[in-house]
Amino acid sequence: MAEHVPHAEHPAYPVGLRLAGRRVVVIGGGQVAQRRLPALVAAGADVTLISPSATPSVEAMAESGEITWTRRRYEDGDIADAWYALVATGDADANARASAEAERTKTWCVRSDDADAATAWTPATGRSDGVTVAVLTGRDPRRSAAVRDAIVEGLRDGTLAAPHHRSRAPFVALVGGGPGDPDLITVRGRRLLAEADVVIADRLGPRDLLDELPPHVEVIDAAKIPYGRFMAQEAINNALIEHAKAGKAVVRLKGGDPYVFGRGMEEAQALAEAGIPYTVVPGISSSISVPSAAGIPVTHRGVAHEFTVVSGHVAPDDPRSLVDWKSLARLRGTLVILMGVDKIGAIAEALIAHGKAPETPLALVQEGTTAAQRRVDATLATVAETVRAEDVRPPAVIVIGDVVTVGPRK
Ligand SMILES: C[S@@+](CC[C@H](N)C(=O)[O-])C[C@H]1O[C@@H](n2cnc3c(N)ncnc32)[C@H](O)[C@@H]1O
Repeated sequence: MAEHVPHAEHPAYPVGLRLAGRRVVVIGGGQVAQRRLPALVAAGADVTLISPSATPSVEAMAESGEITWTRRRYEDGDIADAWYALVATGDADANARASAEAERTKTWCVRSDDADAATAWTPATGRSDGVTVAVLTGRDPRRSAAVRDAIVEGLRDGTLAAPHHRSRAPFVALVGGGPGDPDLITVRGRRLLAEADVVIADRLGPRDLLDELPPHVEVIDAAKIPYGRFMAQEAINNALIEHAKAGKAVVRLKGGDPYVFGRGMEEAQALAEAGIPYTVVPGISSSISVPSAAGIPVTHRGVAHEFTVVSGHVAPDDPRSLVDWKSLARLRGTLVILMGVDKIGAIAEALIAHGKAPETPLALVQEGTTAAQRRVDATLATVAETVRAEDVRPPAVIVIGDVVTVGPRK
């Protein structure tokens, strides 16, 4: 009969334990337990912690009912009926006794102080888009973590090609690409982009990412889609639908967030009407990130307790305007105007006419987060002239209010 077999000769046998509703015993409530418990709880395990003390985070898990905490030292018999045990006390003797009990009761047992004596090892784990990565390297946990990180990172940003073997059902992702800096797209957006066959992109947003796409990916400039008898937006909607119906993985890459002055919902509605499944990936809106990139917080304690984001694409006296400039002039907080460069003179006049102080500070941040970022400061009284003199051009975010002057100039 085979007795103890040295582990060095045999690699561990990897397996995925399905612990939901099954008893797991954790002995010791210190840092090791704190690191392992969340995953056990996430797996649905029925966890009992045995320990006279615990870290504040572990204690909070017991208080919230995620685990059951028995406040005492390990006693023989604690591991009985457990499917899996984690032994991690600071007391070598207790660890040895608990691990011996696990051996007797044939409970798989991880031991924090002596991997050789343990019957199971915890892999370095990570998750991305429904894939669980578990890495074991024997006795080199740092290497396990590094390999895990490399795989998870690669899956997330798409540099590790792991395409879904899905049937080519039509599908579209409406992805918010952030304000322009390619590092400011979300991890999910980046991954979907890496999996795309067709990308329909706006002029604003992380254009640099398009250069990185493999040659087989068709990149379409949304502004250049011919629209003939349709409106431009209808032509974009149709292009999304047609490419998806042709079995392509389609990404609609948009600047900022798709639902902030981005017509994202119009595209979502068109896809829904055409019966095409879609997902919307939020993005970092320029309304917050562009001021931030220029050193302007949209709120600041004691200065502004609110910020309002408004479109300035039509002048205040235009009958199509849905903005209540009179009310906005009365607010103390920050006003952020998108698409407002052309009409800022008329907007400033309206705000002053409705009572806002002419010396209210203001900044225009052009092409924020890109290499061409530029900030121009003015006041409501001087902005029209400053925009002309400095030749400020769209795209720019205009921030009005005292927050403009609180930070160090960037
Ligand atoms: C049609 S809106 C789209 C907004 C976008 N969905 C968002 O959440 O940022 C376009 C306006 O956003 C602002 N904008 C977007 N990206 C910008 C950037 N990198 N720098 C300055 N303004 C930007 C400008 O005001 C521009 O006119």
